[in-house]
Amino acid sequence: MPIQRIAVIGAGTMGNGIAHVCIQYGLDVVLIDVASAALEKAKQVIEKNMERQVKKGILSTEQMTAALKRLQLSTQLSDSVKDCDLVIEAATEKQAVKESIFREIDASAPQHCILATNTSSISITALAAVTNRPDKVIGMHFMNPVPVMKLVEVINAYQTHAGVTDQILDLTRRLEKVPCVVNDYPGFIANRILMPMINEAIYSLYEGVAGVESIDNIMKLGMAHPMGPLHLADFIGLDVCLSILEVLHNGFGQPKYAPCPLLVNMVKAGKLGIKSGEGFYDYSEGTQEKKVSARFL
Ligand code: CAA
Repeated sequence: MPIQRIAVIGAGTMGNGIAHVCIQYGLDVVLIDVASAALEKAKQVIEKNMERQVKKGILSTEQMTAALKRLQLSTQLSDSVKDCDLVIEAATEKQAVKESIFREIDASAPQHCILATNTSSISITALAAVTNRPDKVIGMHFMNPVPVMKLVEVINAYQTHAGVTDQILDLTRRLEKVPCVVNDYPGFIANRILMPMINEAIYSLYEGVAGVESIDNIMKLGMAHPMGPLHLADFIGLDVCLSILEVLHNGFGQPKYAPCPLLVNMVKAGKLGIKSGEGFYDYSEGTQEKKVSARFL
């Protein structure tokens, strides 16, 4: 039976993006969060991003209206997952929080339901181990902004059954995304390669090799990256970058993954990038009008 009803847990940037593409491609979605204000905000963001797609001719107004009708909001996790074929967890990147959510879903979701996580770095194998269906646990790592980025990194836990991977590959293709299958080791592939590049860019700034704009322009204009690594770090969130680097550093025990002290200091200072208004750039006049943070001039 194909997957039709999906619960998405967590109404933040990733959760609302995942809910957006699922309803866009005809799936029924219940978006779950503890905070009803976050749910209402997520719905507005989905509407705004779908309006963008209507303006670009990607969706018709009728398709947008029909898609939004497939979206339900809920603050009740246990009740809402009872009739789901798939749950995609996109809550806070804290292992204890995710383990507790996985236990709760496992207790309420039907036996056939697959439990997926959008984690960027927490061990899927460890999350699978807290459930009574470890063979039905898998990683679905979407990229931000979800409606735009084509990749879904599909991560097999040590315990994942091959048939479950096949179902998730089918679903990913239904969303017109490209799945890439990897195994569950620290940082998977996306962040194992991306984060050392970002860290090296921060080290280059820290050591005075070049300024913020030079570093970003070199990678944008020389390597055709859509954003330079420092801008991308601001976009992802410097706290998220630091925590992924810590997972890589602890998981492999190799100094090459040690987070740059400048990154550590910026996170301590609350300079987290776009979400806090300042990181390597200053966003006080909006994201389009960003300028290099006064700290780095
Ligand atoms: N929903 C729908 N459409 C969106 C959107 C959203 N949230 N955000 C952007 N778009 C659309 C725009 O409408 C625009 O459409 P057209 O091309 O048809 O005009 C297109 O995307 C490009 O957007 P903009 O013109 O606003 O801006 P841009 O050209 O500067 O592109 C960007 C913005 C897509 C974010 C681009 O800069 C980019 O690709 N950056 C790199 C993003 C990236 O690397 N993401 C991965 C981060 S790592 C991660 O997510 C995982 C992790 O574990 C850390």
